[in-house]
Amino acid sequence: MNEVTLTPASGPLTGNLQVPGDKSISHRAVILGSLARGTTNITNFLTGEDCMRTIGAFRQFGVSIEQNDTSVKINSNGPDDFKEPAEPLYYGNSGTTARLMVGVLAGLPFFTSVYGDPSLASRPMDRVVTPLKKMGARFDGRSDGTYLPLAVRGGNLKGIHYILPVKSAQVKSAILFGGLFAEGPTEVIEKSPSRNHSENMLRAFGADIAETNHRIRITSQKPLTAADVHVPGDISSAAFFMTAAAIVPGSKLTLSNVGLNHTRTGIMDVLAEMGASVDVSNKQTIGGETFGDVTVTYQKLKGAVIEGDIIPRLIDELPIIALAATQAEGETVIRDAAELRLKETDRIKATADGLTRLGAQIKPTEDGMIIKGDAALTGGKTAAYNDHRIAMMLSIASLITKQDVIIDDISSIAISYPEFFRDLQTISSKR
Ligand code: S3P
Repeated sequence: MNEVTLTPASGPLTGNLQVPGDKSISHRAVILGSLARGTTNITNFLTGEDCMRTIGAFRQFGVSIEQNDTSVKINSNGPDDFKEPAEPLYYGNSGTTARLMVGVLAGLPFFTSVYGDPSLASRPMDRVVTPLKKMGARFDGRSDGTYLPLAVRGGNLKGIHYILPVKSAQVKSAILFGGLFAEGPTEVIEKSPSRNHSENMLRAFGADIAETNHRIRITSQKPLTAADVHVPGDISSAAFFMTAAAIVPGSKLTLSNVGLNHTRTGIMDVLAEMGASVDVSNKQTIGGETFGDVTVTYQKLKGAVIEGDIIPRLIDELPIIALAATQAEGETVIRDAAELRLKETDRIKATADGLTRLGAQIKPTEDGMIIKGDAALTGGKTAAYNDHRIAMMLSIASLITKQDVIIDDISSIAISYPEFFRDLQTISSKR
């Protein structure tokens, strides 16, 4: 347990921050760099615990991966040289490692077994196991392969045509990675677009991939060719500070080199719709990923309805959006976000409970929440549910409470943003 007591801010937040590299892109860079033949250099890699799990998995296959702070160098001869791991693979808390790697393990012609921490062991894996079974991989696991621990015997995959039953980039990516090993083309159809970092990076590594109308088709072509990857700043990490600037009166914060991929920028659209001033400058694109500087300036917020196709574009930002909504004029309604219940914890329950303990009024619903605005947050003891995004959201809440906020355990923050408290200190003048 790592309890923390946070004091409110004494004035506006100002300055400039460079948030760490994007978690989704860092995972994918390690996966494709390991599957490709040659040397891949990754810069601005996220050294958070989750991405280190993905590095650990490939090291167990014998891939040479040198990591020096945020620089990673991968030397690989491609999957034909991978060796069957002697030990089970441990994925810790990392849902992205677990789901994406199912696609890879399904393609490798040997036996692997995988497990995770209690949170990961409670998250559904059937969403990736079902399509990869259809492609020909053999799985066994708890509740007939629904949960970790999972055992996989891969190889001899055949391409499939699959309509995604859940709006999930992890599922889409697992199938596309499986498609790299399959005989014949693999086609994935998504009803509304989810993050497309796998597609962008597969293209950069020379994969035969085409996309029309939410229909993505990949044809196996071995091996991929190594390519350097520059990881933009993580918009899901920047979101905490964008929101901080939007709720602390008089604030103006710039987040530099933030990923601006359209499939991820829902948080900026919502803050702007709620009335904050959101400006972008210095845009550039490398490896199919656009990034730039985002400046958020405080303006009194108003409530919003957040539903439909925007949900996958801000799924990880809904807890911090809920905090913004407590400070807006009027009510905010979040719908179509039942997936939140399947994250590191049930984030509908955790967000409502964590903020209610600080004085907010939030009604959880089956697929979202209803948040009453203009709440005067009091502070006090609250709980982060061992979830990094809940812990960071509650830490940002402490900027606007009347009294101190005591969070039961903040150790989970190391998963995606190890330097979070240093950055919070940089931009805030705490009382
Ligand atoms: C991720 C996709 C999202 C997101 C997760 C990272 C990814 O999950 O919540 O933090 O890197 O593909 P789903 O695919 O389950 O929506």
